Amino acid sequence: MTGVRRELRFLVNDEEVALGDAGAGDSLLDFLRLRRGLRGTKEGCAEGDCGACTVLVGRLRGGDVRYEAVNSCIRLLPSLDCCHVVTVEHLSGAEGGLHPVQQAMVDCHGSQCGFCTPGIVMVLVALWLERPRPSEAEVRRALQGNLCRCTGYAPILRAAAAAGDYGLPEDDGLVRNREAVAARLAAMADGNRVELGGGVVIPADEDDLADALEAQPAATMVAGATDVGVWINKDLRDIAPAVFIGHLDGLGRIAAKGRTIVIGATASYSDAEAALTEAVPGLADYWSRIGGWQIRNMGTVGGNIANGSPIADLPPVLIALGAELVLRKGRGRRTIPLEAYFLDYGRQDLEPGEFVEEVCVPVPTEDARLGFYKVSKRRDEDISSVCAGFMVRVRDGRMEEARLAFGGMAATPRRAEAAEAALRGREWGEAAIEAARQALGRDFTPISDWRASAEYRALVARNLLKRFYLDRSGTVSP
Ligand SMILES: Cc1cc2nc3c(=O)[nH]c(=O)nc-3n(C[C@H](O)[C@H](O)[C@H](O)COP(=O)(O)OP(=O)(O)OC[C@H]3O[C@@H](n4cnc5c(N)ncnc54)[C@H](O)[C@@H]3O)c2cc1C
Ligand code: FES
Ligand code: FES
Repeated sequence: MTGVRRELRFLVNDEEVALGDAGAGDSLLDFLRLRRGLRGTKEGCAEGDCGACTVLVGRLRGGDVRYEAVNSCIRLLPSLDCCHVVTVEHLSGAEGGLHPVQQAMVDCHGSQCGFCTPGIVMVLVALWLERPRPSEAEVRRALQGNLCRCTGYAPILRAAAAAGDYGLPEDDGLVRNREAVAARLAAMADGNRVELGGGVVIPADEDDLADALEAQPAATMVAGATDVGVWINKDLRDIAPAVFIGHLDGLGRIAAKGRTIVIGATASYSDAEAALTEAVPGLADYWSRIGGWQIRNMGTVGGNIANGSPIADLPPVLIALGAELVLRKGRGRRTIPLEAYFLDYGRQDLEPGEFVEEVCVPVPTEDARLGFYKVSKRRDEDISSVCAGFMVRVRDGRMEEARLAFGGMAATPRRAEAAEAALRGREWGEAAIEAARQALGRDFTPISDWRASAEYRALVARNLLKRFYLDRSGTVSP
């Protein structure tokens, strides 16, 4: 660590901001609306669900600025050091006037009351920057996190498809100014730790993080804030003191080491998507069921594991694949099987001052049969009632290894050991699957809550095993 800076620095549209008084729980949305008067960005749900508050955040990545759509209601100010925040007020066409996405929304009648419109425009701008002529599937995926209660989505889909006819990214102000913005952000990044009066620490690098947590083991760690931001807005929790980690590039690296993919804890769902879905057949659809686009840009793989939630979507998948977790405290590290991390409801194998550093995911072997399933009330932007990851290795018709992991069936994500034993060594066939389905009753005693009843969960778990068998026997297309 070279020194300590006492203010946050970032860009909002064209203006440089220096803030010495940002609190740990201050949201970007409140800052924009209440302190900057930028009221084009709306507040709907205040919990990351509706997309009305969507803005773009650009961050330096390898010398370039990468813009992503995020929910400003749960994006915390201290996570914005050395970033570029772009709001709807900053958009314009190449010759002034409306941005191509805005003009397409007008011409296609994509807005009625207009409340959701700035958020929808910002998401469609993020998409247009990547793909000015997207497929309908790409538009639908981009809009998973945006709720419109009056227009109906057909005109919005038409606007998204037409935006490329109104202008292309190479003529856009954000793209033309990318180098200049990168230079301004690089000039802000002085390599110092940032400490703010309201109990905020923004470590300079991973070693500095380890030191900060050893000095303040009770501090709240904040990565993507997709859980923490909801605690603040809905439970009115005070999270100070807090250590922010989402900006640490070294903690978010993704690398292939032999037949293992190593995912750094702060890699977002979007960052990790390509590496994991390319290496693991059948995972892409499951991945697209996690949150909406904004949540996937913010939420991290490490946060989804560290929070210990029994209904988090990644643990069952990663446990089925045989992932290991690397935990770091100070300069020391230990590696444990992922399933061993979850001790009981709300209790994880994490010492004070320790943090999740990376998760190591073995690439499945050729003989692996894989299945990943999420059952929730809505297809998009919903939390699982039950989710499952299955990996069975079959050699000469017999199941040599079976790893069946479930979320939503117990107080933690867990393997179904009795069901696994019912498969191991037996022929891949209906008889063994039926035995495993019955054994699930010994593995789990699920609870009823407002998401699903105990009976429903037990039935879904049994049926998912059957579905897996049919999918992987070529009887039903996956
Ligand atoms: C609208 C919405 C939709 C969602 N949809 C889904 C969904 O479909 N599936 C799903 O599984 N989840 C979903 N979530 C929950 C959330 O997105 C995930 O759990 C996310 O992965 C959490 O990561 P984060 O980086 O945002 O964590 P944060 O909110 O920053 O932190 C969560 C917890 O983990 C701790 N933590 C974070 N990183 C570390 C680390 N490296 N070491 C130790 N502790 C750490 C924090 O201290 C905190 O206790 C949704 C959330 C919202 C708001
Ligand atoms: S206000 Fe609904 S996602 Fe932010
Ligand atoms: S136009 Fe009214 S909510 Fe979308």
